Order: sequence, then structure tokens, then C-alpha cells
Amino acid sequence: MRILVLGGTVFLSRAVAAAAVARGHDVTAACRGASGPLPDGVRHVPLDRAAARPAEVDAAIGPRSGTAYDVVVDVARRPSWVRAAVSAVPAAHWVLVSTINVYPDTATPGGTPATLALRDPLTSDEDPADGPEAYGAMKVACEQTVQALTASASVVRPGLIVGPGDPSGRFTYWPARMARVAEGEPEVLAPGDPDDRVQVVDVRDLADWLVTLAEGRTVGTFDGTGPALTREALLLEVAAGVGVEPRLTWVGQEVLEAEEVQPWSGPRSLPLWLPLPEHAGMLDHDVSASLEAGLAVRPLAETARDTLTWLRTTPDAAVTGLTATEERSVLDAWHARTR
Ligand SMILES: NC(=O)c1ccc[n+]([C@@H]2O[C@H](COP(=O)([O-])OP(=O)(O)OC[C@H]3O[C@@H](n4cnc5c(N)ncnc54)[C@H](OP(=O)(O)O)[C@@H]3O)[C@@H](O)[C@H]2O)c1
Repeated sequence: MRILVLGGTVFLSRAVAAAAVARGHDVTAACRGASGPLPDGVRHVPLDRAAARPAEVDAAIGPRSGTAYDVVVDVARRPSWVRAAVSAVPAAHWVLVSTINVYPDTATPGGTPATLALRDPLTSDEDPADGPEAYGAMKVACEQTVQALTASASVVRPGLIVGPGDPSGRFTYWPARMARVAEGEPEVLAPGDPDDRVQVVDVRDLADWLVTLAEGRTVGTFDGTGPALTREALLLEVAAGVGVEPRLTWVGQEVLEAEEVQPWSGPRSLPLWLPLPEHAGMLDHDVSASLEAGLAVRPLAETARDTLTWLRTTPDAAVTGLTATEERSVLDAWHARTR
């Protein structure tokens, strides 16, 4: 197939381009080329979607460019970017990468695209970094554009995408932390409750599945994440992938909050930890329909091992979360309370 990837130079869109080449497709990537190198075997069409007017987008990727595509894979967050691209290539099957932030309800476990309500669409371009409300609402608008105006569309709403190349540094915290077990720091601060539910998807598994959906021209809307597991299982899988046996010390939400540990991501955070019950559904979607539609997930231990290898061989790889000193001080505070 002739596949156009709008992106291709970083993390997920790069993994999609690589997977499509590996599966024998003719792959073109339209992007600035600013975020990194394209995978080998991918043709580059220079395009700055922030600067280009619709006619310029059409000239770069539409019929006037002398190209035709069977499938377009788009990761855009800004509605006007998607509108311009769709109007340039309306006859292709679209694979739109959306997000679970389209759902305002993060509390209800077991949600699916059929059961969870969507945010109202936001058709103007706002800064996606403003927060999940604007980001999610813009993605709803992007979804509606491809569903209304393309020949056919697969809409995939990822949860937390993890693995080698992750620019966010969130999941990477855990393989990096577990690696310190072998360096004399065996006690690991584990946030919340061992039975809390979490779910992630390896970027390579998600990318492979997006290519599968492209090949099948599958029409549908899916959540793009792996099956949920307990936090204890996730941490033990990460430890197994890194090859260590940590001593997990579970520190409950009240103490984490009292010690000003931040949820999810960023400085002084414990990545992947979310306050409950308000976020009990965010990492606990029912993804049986996605698995039935071909999403295949590798063992998390493999993801953790490969993420650590990537971290150790990539000088500018991002890791977010507590420093070793901060973690020790929270553990000391916990032990002082429980003595
Ligand atoms: N990370 C997560 O956990 C998570 C969770 C849910 C959903 N998602 C979704 O998953 C997708 C992630 O995609 P991604 O990893 O490829 O990263 P991304 O940051 O969404 O997209 C990066 C790609 O867009 C291109 N791009 C950026 N600005 C551009 C411009 N002005 N003109 C043309 N191209 C431009 C970049 O190429 P150049 O810079 O080289 O131009 C790069 O290839 C997104 O749709 C995101 O919303 C992510």
C-alpha cells in the first residue's frame, strides 16, 4: 500500500513509519524533519503544517503533488491541520491517532468507546499543552473531521504509550528506578495500593496495530492501550525485565499527598500514579474490542528491558519523576509514621 504518515520523526509516528516499511509498504512522511530522523526507507515530503495554508498542504500531499495514497496516518492535535490534510487527500483511508483524553470521565473503570461520553468538539486551534480539556476536545474535532469527510476511517484513542523513544519520560522512570535496585537501592517506593489498576501500550505494538488497521481499512473507533493489570504486577514485570528483585514499600495516597508527591508526571512525581477515586477509570479501559481487532501486546518485561537499553544508549533520553533523594525522604517519612 502507499501510506502517507503525517509525522514520522519521533516516537509513535516514527514507529508507524518503521513498521509500515518493515511490512513492505511504500511509505511517505510529510513533516518538517525537525524532531528527528525518519526511519530508513521512508520518503520525505517537507511540510510545516503550522505555516502552510490549505492550498500549500494540497500542493505538498494532494493529487497536484503527483502522488496518491491508499492510507493516511495522522497524529495531529490541531483541528485545522487535520481539516487541511483531509481536504487534500479525502479518498484515502484515514488512521487517526486520537487520545483517551476525549473522555471527560476518568473515574469509571471498564469504559469503552461505546460506553464513555465524549467532550464537546473544539474546532479552533488551541495549545494542546493547556491541559486535557482543550487537548481532548480538539481531538474530538479531529475525529469528527475524518469520520465525516474521508472515504473511511480508523480512529484509535491511545492511553499511555510507553517504550523506547518515549519523549515524556513517564514510564521510563520505572525501569530506571528498578535498575538502581542492583546499585544498592533495593527499597522501592511503590505508590498507592498494590491492586490499583494500570494500563499502558508499547509504542511498537500500537504502531504495528495501526498498520494492521490500515491494511484492513478497518472502519471503527477503538481505545489503543493494552489490557489493565494491577500496579503490583506492573512493577514486578518491570523489575523482571530489568533483572532485579526489589523490596516494594507501598505508600498510600494520603501520605503521598502529605509529602507533596505529584501524580502522573513531572518534577517530584511518581509517574503513572493517579489520585483515586477520581481517576480510577483512566488506566482501566476494557480493550477487548481492540484485542479482537488485532492489537497484540508483548510482555511488559520486554518493554521495560528495551526502554532501559534505550535510556542507557541515548544521552538526551527523558526521565521524569522523584529524584533518589526525594524518594528516600518520602520513604523515611513513611517509616517514621508507621513505626
Ligand atoms: N504519548 C502518549 O502517551 C499519548 C497518549 C495518548 C495519545 N497520544 C497521541 O499519540 C500521538 C503521538 O504521536 P508522536 O509520538 O508521533 O508525537 P507527536 O508529538 O504527536 O507528533 C510528532 C510528529 O508531528 C510532526 N510535526 C510536529 N509539528 C509539525 C509541523 N508544524 N508540521 C508538520 N509536522 C509536524 C513531527 O515532525 P517534525 O517535528 O519533524 O516536523 C513529528 O513527526 C499523538 O497523536 C498524541 O496525541 C499520545
